[in-house]
Amino acid sequence: MTGRTHVARRRLPAIGVLALAAVLTVSGSARAAEAEADYQPTFATDVASILQQKCQVCHQPNSIAPMSLLTYQDVRPWARAIKARVVAREMPPWHIDTTVGIRQFKNDRSLSQEQIDTIVKWVDGGAPLGDRADLPPPVQWPDPTAWVLAEQFGQPELIVPSEPFTVPADGQDKWWQSTVDTGLTEERWVKAIETKPSFPGGRRVVHHAIAGLIQEEDGVIGLAASAANPDDDDDIGPGTFMEWAVGKVGEIFPDDAGKLMLPDSQIRWNIHYHPVGEEVADDVVELGVYFYPKGQKPEHRTILHMMRATNGGIDIPPGEIKTTQGFTVLRAPARLENFQPHMHMRGKAMSMEAIYPDGRRELLSYVDNFQWNWHINYVYDEAVAPILPAGTMIAITAWHDNSEANRNNPDARQWVGSGSRTVDEMAHAWVDVTYLEEADYEAELERRKALTDNDE
Ligand code: HEC
Repeated sequence: MTGRTHVARRRLPAIGVLALAAVLTVSGSARAAEAEADYQPTFATDVASILQQKCQVCHQPNSIAPMSLLTYQDVRPWARAIKARVVAREMPPWHIDTTVGIRQFKNDRSLSQEQIDTIVKWVDGGAPLGDRADLPPPVQWPDPTAWVLAEQFGQPELIVPSEPFTVPADGQDKWWQSTVDTGLTEERWVKAIETKPSFPGGRRVVHHAIAGLIQEEDGVIGLAASAANPDDDDDIGPGTFMEWAVGKVGEIFPDDAGKLMLPDSQIRWNIHYHPVGEEVADDVVELGVYFYPKGQKPEHRTILHMMRATNGGIDIPPGEIKTTQGFTVLRAPARLENFQPHMHMRGKAMSMEAIYPDGRRELLSYVDNFQWNWHINYVYDEAVAPILPAGTMIAITAWHDNSEANRNNPDARQWVGSGSRTVDEMAHAWVDVTYLEEADYEAELERRKALTDNDE
């Protein structure tokens, strides 16, 4: 409760300054501001609940992070490291610039400025425990072996496991690929997808897992295309089905949209394992698929596009920062559901802009602090996911930093070109595009316009 009052008082310092100028008249506010400045956050009252909300999903025993942040005893030795990481906005991992473009996400795990300030003040004040009686009750984490979305949709109808892989105790990170039949005999529309690493081993060693969908189909190709290469079908298609990284459960498509799975389709797994000092034998990651009821077809189809930030190759001289840009044209009206930049160790930043047919440019998203070992998918809130007219060009711009200043750079003396090893580079974004009929696009445009007009 004290924490809440504290938050509510936040705006007062500015008023406090005014109060000084106006001398005695608002001395009450000045006193409140002083109280605010003197307030010393404690673990029990202010910090524990932030860690519960934003950190413990990964920072608990048997999860991916190197240390637990469940109790005061766990947290205290890490206080300074915590301050450093949250101020740099490296933890929790959420590396998008939150001051530009679209700012509401379905899966936002970032700290508010308020929460960062509280943590900093707590650490600067000696990281006190406070009164044990003020501690929030511990969070009851869901059963790690159960399907989380089953509560909402019932058990997944289709479960596709990866082929077993033994993760050694030590050594370099491993990328494990296997292709598995889905066994589907008829076409089905997908409402939600969930990825589940094994427990407890897999929870610790699976850094991220990409499930690609392989199926043969004709007729959908050609809705959007790379501007550089309009006939290039590779840029489109079922492609990646679901990308999972620690902290994420799955993807639920909006009520009017879904992905299409065809008979005889296959899942191609690409799993990034990170050894943790103990062997994990025969690890298996499972993909759970929740379908729309048989025969029910959502209004719109969502297709994952690889939108290139290049127009040809990648060519990064030693020591330099280089930008590349690529364009994708939407040939039908569409809603963009997410932004997921993909680069490797020299990746520094990536932006996505819409260039409307009338020439207007709009910055949709900008990841300014890209970290290659976190494959973060920024999923837009339904209310603000951009809807764009046919003919819009999506411009993806990538920045690669091959200088010494990039902490992730293994060797600033090397020339770097494109390739799939992590020491080579890539530059594209994964974007789920939901195609709309012209009439639906117009209707949605009107609906949103009415909402903003009401706000004013
Ligand atoms: C999505 C999972 C995830 C979340 C959420 C998360 N962390 Fe982490 N954290 C990690 C992983 C994995 C590492 C080690 C790899 C790295 O540093 O990127 C790490 C590393 C750290 C480190 C550095 C530890 C060291 O060895 O120096 C600190 C400090 C930290 N996290 C604090 C936090 C705090 C505080 C929060 C919440 C405000 C948080 N983390 C949220 C997964 C997470």
